[in-house]
Amino acid sequence: MAIIRYAKDNYDLEENQSVLDCLTHRGVALPFSCRSGVCQTCLMRATGGTPTEASQQGLKDSLRLQNYFLPCVCYPDTDLEVALPDDADAQAVIPATVKSLRLLNADIMHVELESHAQLDYRAGQFINLFQHQTLGRSYSLASVPHQDDHLHLHVRRLPQGRVSGWIHDELRPGQTVELRGPGGDCFYIPGDHAQSMMLIGTGSGLAPLYGIIRDALSQGHTGPIYLFHGSRDLNGLYLSAELRELMAHYANFNYIPCLSGDDVPAGYASGRAHDIAFEQIPSLKNWRMFLCGHPEMVRITKRKAFLAGAAMKNIYADAFNVSQPL
Ligand SMILES: Cc1cc2nc3c(=O)[nH]c(=O)nc-3n(C[C@H](O)[C@H](O)[C@H](O)COP(=O)(O)OP(=O)(O)OC[C@H]3O[C@@H](n4cnc5c(N)ncnc54)[C@H](O)[C@@H]3O)c2cc1C
Ligand code: FES
Repeated sequence: MAIIRYAKDNYDLEENQSVLDCLTHRGVALPFSCRSGVCQTCLMRATGGTPTEASQQGLKDSLRLQNYFLPCVCYPDTDLEVALPDDADAQAVIPATVKSLRLLNADIMHVELESHAQLDYRAGQFINLFQHQTLGRSYSLASVPHQDDHLHLHVRRLPQGRVSGWIHDELRPGQTVELRGPGGDCFYIPGDHAQSMMLIGTGSGLAPLYGIIRDALSQGHTGPIYLFHGSRDLNGLYLSAELRELMAHYANFNYIPCLSGDDVPAGYASGRAHDIAFEQIPSLKNWRMFLCGHPEMVRITKRKAFLAGAAMKNIYADAFNVSQPL
């Protein structure tokens, strides 16, 4: 049986138990959210022993080389001594100043952050924002490097949500916060400039898509780009004026705001964003897809896109999964 050593204490790892479960089930306070190797909130460092290969997947090379790993998907056969990243870990922990906060609609806050260190990211990737060392959440980057001076996030307030509530109610301009990342592969890759692109998002799922679209257009993407942004009612949509302006400027960009409720004014499509998208564009052979937001929407749409002809390698998706309880 392998032993996990953390903060000078030893913990026996049970069969088929992850390092995260081994520690948290015994009362150790650690950060985590998805518990499935996606969000990277749980990032730890092996200070003794070697983490499994699977637990380092998706991490940037600089972190991998320093033995960082994701304890929620780490099932080691041999002993490991582990630690949380601390402020001295410049590769893992990046301080940032809150530059501004403004509501984009009643529930979604635009957060502008100035990173204290260079953050190499692509529009559409996500960072982890920490309220304190053991509480962090993933938020997608709506900003575009070389176009926007600072990092931009769109944070939706969830009822009783710990981190989103803190961001909406307590965070103030001038405050310093801690970031980690970036992570994820939901971003624009230049190369095939004429490829057709479909982007579908619900709620704050617009955040990565807004970054990806502006990135693609600024890199000279010439193929048609269709954005379907969905909400129940008009109050849930945001950045509509900016997106309409983008549409007026770029002939290949199409913005289709979708409302699934009863009250649908002229100029809006009636129905769920993914249903409308497949009605308007039924064949997706050779299309590049970006799907972000509600996990159920992402799951259904990914499958439908594949059945409509999109290749799996051309489907980029970020499901905004909320934290999984212990
Ligand atoms: C890759 C990725 C990218 C993301 N990008 C974004 C983004 O750009 N914008 C965005 O707004 N979000 C994004 N998210 C979601 C985000 O990370 C958080 O999950 C979200 O903000 C909620 O966090 P929270 O701490 O506020 O809520 P939590 O405290 O984690 O709670 C989540 C929900 O569960 C409920 N809950 C909590 N505890 C319990 C309990 N014990 N019993 C029952 N219910 C409970 C809460 O009421 C709440 O509704 C992303 C997620 C991922 C994985
Ligand atoms: S990656 Fe471990 S909790 Fe999300």
